[in-house]
Amino acid sequence: MRIEAVNLKDHIASEINLTVDQLITPAAGAELRKLLRQRGVLVFKKLQLSSEQQLAFASNMGVVRQEGEKGIFKISLDKKANARGDYLKGSFLWHMDGTQDRTPVFASLLTGVKLSTVGGQTEFANSYEAYEQLPPKTKERIATLRVVHSVETSMRRAGIEETDENLSYWRSIPDRTHNLVWTHESGRKSLVIGCHASHVEGMPKEEGQALINELIEWTTQPKFVYRHEWSVGDLLIWDNTGVLHRAEPYPLESGREMSRTTLVGEEAFS
Ligand code: OGA
Ligand code: MN
Repeated sequence: MRIEAVNLKDHIASEINLTVDQLITPAAGAELRKLLRQRGVLVFKKLQLSSEQQLAFASNMGVVRQEGEKGIFKISLDKKANARGDYLKGSFLWHMDGTQDRTPVFASLLTGVKLSTVGGQTEFANSYEAYEQLPPKTKERIATLRVVHSVETSMRRAGIEETDENLSYWRSIPDRTHNLVWTHESGRKSLVIGCHASHVEGMPKEEGQALINELIEWTTQPKFVYRHEWSVGDLLIWDNTGVLHRAEPYPLESGREMSRTTLVGEEAFS
């Protein structure tokens, strides 16, 4: 099956034009997995998938993680829809999902259900391509570095209230150390960075943080970034193993709601 993909930026994101019936077939799933690996983000405009259709498509792309309601997780800051909404403010800073796990999630699908009138667009940065284009000297400098990732670090940076309850929850999730440069089974390399990256192992804290910030800035420069301006019913998929993402801040009471399905990780950090 040949699927037509239009590049939205040179180094990241393609738009795919398929009907729902064409999309939800094993052949399309297999082809789109390949495209996702190559392009980092796939965009389907105004597809308007139902929850059942989103799950059916996701199952053709990988193994659906059981979160939310049977694999459909409502992303919303509205406490009525999602009691832990506050934590989602962590998504306003550049991040990867699952850096506290040994094997991070492979990919996530998001459908725009309700949009905010201000903010709430989503940005993605290709960390495979950003690594590839680093100056050789920098590649050499970072080749063997290891970075400690911490929930508390990301939550503090996101300005989430440091109540006793929050602090004890954040601290209940153990820190994880990963190679700064992830060499994938495919041989490709990506950078493991984001707001959760606390410091570089064996390096003075400030020096390590400065290096991490420099790499985040490099990776999120415009040429590696795709910014999605949402319409209701849009579907996005991103490859979490080599793409950083963030949501543009939006008001707590905006009513923004996204329907997310996450695919289980297939490769451990290394
Ligand atoms: C996520 C996330 C961004 C958004 O689902 O992991 O960061 O725009 N979402 O809601
Ligand atoms: Mn996220």
